[in-house]
Amino acid sequence: MSNDNTNQIEIHGVNKKFVIDKKKVDILKDINLEFKKGEFICIVGASGCGKSTLLRMISGLETVEEGEITVGGQKVTQPTLKTGMVFQESRLFPWSNVEKNIEFGITHSKSKKLDKYAKKKLVNSLIELVGLKGFEKAIPKQLSGGMQQRVSIARGLINNPDVLLLDEPFGALDAITRINMQNEILRIWEAEKKTMVLVTHDIDEAIYLGDKVVVLSSRPGTLRKVFNVDLPRERDRNSAEFASIRSKIYKEFFNDVKRKEPEYYI
Ligand SMILES: Nc1ncnc2c1ncn2[C@@H]1O[C@H](COP(=O)(O)OP(=O)(O)OP(=O)(O)O)[C@@H](O)[C@H]1O
Ligand SMILES: [Mg+2]
Repeated sequence: MSNDNTNQIEIHGVNKKFVIDKKKVDILKDINLEFKKGEFICIVGASGCGKSTLLRMISGLETVEEGEITVGGQKVTQPTLKTGMVFQESRLFPWSNVEKNIEFGITHSKSKKLDKYAKKKLVNSLIELVGLKGFEKAIPKQLSGGMQQRVSIARGLINNPDVLLLDEPFGALDAITRINMQNEILRIWEAEKKTMVLVTHDIDEAIYLGDKVVVLSSRPGTLRKVFNVDLPRERDRNSAEFASIRSKIYKEFFNDVKRKEPEYYI
């Protein structure tokens, strides 16, 4: 459901190396991707293929030495307010309540200057958006895992970014909560019209959520294929169309794992 045809994120010729044990190791190789404004993008790939690194590069938390990444037409050189981030672990302050944990995400100079009532209003509107009304004063240990991730999503949205980056946001949740949260993130996406880039290990989750599913190869991460998921929402995980896309992605995914790491199959 892209809102217009403008590219929100462009990734051109990106390579990434890290020094591990004094050797330069290729982590990501020749990544070229374009995501439209308002699209929901899911990225899947084996553990260690560089998914988090790619997300961190889009957010400006990790440097881009080779190639170029632009967000909203501007080259990413440092963390920018154009992107918000939701991490795999909720990264909440255990001693702070929901309101404070969300407010902590304010880095936008305009929002920082707001008086305490305006800040409260902003925080409360996000609490409502993520469905946590009534839990404003709760501290993280009084919340379930799904509720904690709701707080993280609100925090990721507090500076009103154009792009929300989500790194396996539901990875630690049980299956039922996970499905609920998938519906919640779609509701928030439809309400907020942000571009969403979500990393997941879960192929079904990627097909359920994404307009596009990007499949990366195992180390070093290269672009295997981008699948367009043209199914109307709410998607039926048991439909033949869903199964057909699932089977194509599995093929792409496991052919690659087989090719690179045959020892898994002995
Ligand atoms: N700051 C760093 N310094 C050195 N190596 C790093 C650094 N960050 C990540 N790596 C290495 O880069 C590779 C890719 O890591 P990354 O966290 O991006 O993978 P991933 O695809 O997100 O994996 P997972 O699915 O397990 O979260 C790994 O081999 C990791 O050890
Ligand atoms: Mg990761």
